[in-house]
Amino acid sequence: MAPKDATNERGQFSSRFGFITAATGSAVGLGNIWGFPTQTASHGGGAFVLVYLVLAFLLAYPALMAELIIGRHTRHNMVGALPQLTTKPVLKIIGRATGLYGVVIASLILSFYAIVASWLMAQVPAALADISGQGQTASWLSQSSLLRDSLFCGLFSLLTASIVARGVKDGIERWSTRLMPALVLLMLALVATVLTLPGAMEGLRLYLVPNFSLITDPGLLTGAMGQAFFSLSLGVGTMLIYGSYVSKTDNLPLTGAYVALIDTGIAFLAGLLIIPAMFVAQHRGIEIYSSENTLIAGPDLILQTLPSLFNSLGSAGVIIGLVFFLLLTIAALTSSISMLEVPVTFVLEQFQLSRYRATWLVASIIFGLSLLILNNFEQLFAGVISLTTTYSQPLLGVMLCVFAGWVLHRDKLLREISAGFAGAENSLFWKIWPSYIRFICPLLIIFMFVQNARS
Ligand code: PHE
Repeated sequence: MAPKDATNERGQFSSRFGFITAATGSAVGLGNIWGFPTQTASHGGGAFVLVYLVLAFLLAYPALMAELIIGRHTRHNMVGALPQLTTKPVLKIIGRATGLYGVVIASLILSFYAIVASWLMAQVPAALADISGQGQTASWLSQSSLLRDSLFCGLFSLLTASIVARGVKDGIERWSTRLMPALVLLMLALVATVLTLPGAMEGLRLYLVPNFSLITDPGLLTGAMGQAFFSLSLGVGTMLIYGSYVSKTDNLPLTGAYVALIDTGIAFLAGLLIIPAMFVAQHRGIEIYSSENTLIAGPDLILQTLPSLFNSLGSAGVIIGLVFFLLLTIAALTSSISMLEVPVTFVLEQFQLSRYRATWLVASIIFGLSLLILNNFEQLFAGVISLTTTYSQPLLGVMLCVFAGWVLHRDKLLREISAGFAGAENSLFWKIWPSYIRFICPLLIIFMFVQNARS
């Protein structure tokens, strides 16, 4: 039966804390715990960390603000929001098309994200089966197969949909405030454990000491930019829709800064866990360099190298593995609910369906897409990831900056920022951000794009 509050009435976060946990829940995901450390590993360690930190604040934070401001100003999903910023028919059409593109990309991101999440989620019962001596079940659960992946992908999609169906306050906010503190605690416990193991310090050095000769590598710049956009959930309207649920009494630039800070802080913490863990593994005789002599990254790192490390640590290792995969599952879930919220609010607001129906309808379609990818893995998986994250997210980011900087009238912009932020017109934010979002952000993104295409 549909929950009581899951009608198509517009929701709102109950407090600033509620918004911050939901938005950081969206931002902190596999991008932080998996993507950031593996990109750091494949781009030579500290140099990538440094460039990432700079880009997160110079590029991603201003773009995040563009989305939050448009969202709170229009109180709409991206498809309804962008046309509302203008009276010009052509711009309305462009706004609508951009919004629709965002909805499609958010759905496609969820379709591959749920697959990756299913690989990680299956490791949790695998560890439990291992602990209780069910060797055969444990090995079935820990190895990828079409059946296992489809089942767990279905389970993950079901979990995601059942939270989103309950609405903004009772679903998204409630579960984010439960899961995010658990995530931070689990992460701190793991970092503290790994850093005491032999070999960890070597990893720490690689992670923290930048090799400046790598900073000019064009792959490093675009990698860091894509990572920053993905990590802050930008471009596809997730932050826009979360912004639309924020109260007019909240100080948006400050709240947005908290979200960016926490997201970056957790990515940094994940690096403190994974890179040293790799060197602990090496210390125990596990191969951590690939045949091209670069550190192993991607699925092999998370699903082979680290599990070999956990196995080599005996029964303590099984518990560490369990905690690690639980952490990844929680991170994935608080992000996937924000992805699903994008197409759900679109359907709900444009077609006047109830939230309950919209959620189950959209979640079933996206699960169908995940099954399609799973059944044509070689042909589709990598392609969908690069189409959505490498190309579409930054491009949509440019469009959102243009809409916030050029289309939304300056007076309205100031009025929106001033709500909840007394004296906004004299603030540093107002002095810098509007021209920043008009010129620097779009140009920087386009510049990096062109660099990437040429390399
Ligand atoms: N930010 C999430 C992560 O780091 C991914 C995400 C992308 C979430 C786009 C929502 C929208 O894993």
